[in-house]
Amino acid sequence: MGRVALVTGGSRGIGAAISKALKAAGYEVAASYAGNDEAAAAFTAETGIKTYKWNVADYEASKAGIAQVEADLGPVEVVVANAGITRDAPFHKMSPQQWQDVIDTNLTGVFNTVHPVWPGMRERGFGRVIVISSINGQKGQFGQVNYAATKAGDLGIVKSLAQEGAAKGITANAICPGYIATEMVMAVPEKVREAIIGMIPVGRLGEPEEIARCVTFLASDDSGFINGSTISANGAQFFA
Ligand code: CAA
Repeated sequence: MGRVALVTGGSRGIGAAISKALKAAGYEVAASYAGNDEAAAAFTAETGIKTYKWNVADYEASKAGIAQVEADLGPVEVVVANAGITRDAPFHKMSPQQWQDVIDTNLTGVFNTVHPVWPGMRERGFGRVIVISSINGQKGQFGQVNYAATKAGDLGIVKSLAQEGAAKGITANAICPGYIATEMVMAVPEKVREAIIGMIPVGRLGEPEEIARCVTFLASDDSGFINGSTISANGAQFFA
């Protein structure tokens, strides 16, 4: 049996590609999702990957969900904190709720996902923590004060976890995808999206599989000396 990998938000978008790639690489994959039962059922039917429903913004729900994953599949050795939302608005129109929802899911959600698996990783002397950040955490983005704050926060999280986990065989790294062809990017108004594509030197959106391949590398035993790093995969749109 391969190592157990948990991917939050793992049944749609970039997360679905990550779940599939990890399965293809031999991992036992659990994909969590927040609300879309239909998409999760279709994903399981298509891939055979088990899906689990919990809200990453809720610590107790995350802890219970992860306990269930571990009861079913075994200890989580690879955790991919991928679940994220956008509530875009220019700052002068951004409501406290839009701010809080994004903080709770994208930032506190990373804490809630990694914290329950961290003690087991320390005890076993092995772990891979991979956080899906964003180009917009590196460069900021008009309309995304909330989202950019969380994605920049991800980089602080992995740099700190890397220092705490290194002596215990745990690595923590971030991936900063650029604009990837997913529902999240398709939700951006078409005119804005076209303008964004115009700013990507490679001239296209990225594919979810291009991010998934970064994850399988960081999850592997071969990547053990890469710790606290950020991989940018953005078609040359921005250099951190
Ligand atoms: N730069 C500068 N000015 C901009 C701008 C930009 N990128 N976008 C909009 N504006 C300007 C508009 O031209 C407009 O100016 P005027 O009032 O002078 O005409 C003004 O800002 C207000 O624009 P709107 O009336 O359109 O504002 P709005 O309230 O409808 O919302 C928005 C604007 C929600 C920010 C919208 O522009 C938007 O969705 N932008 C995309 C933000 C984005 O890139 N999100 C990424 C989503 S994908 C993702 O997050 C994944 C990932 O990790 C990469």
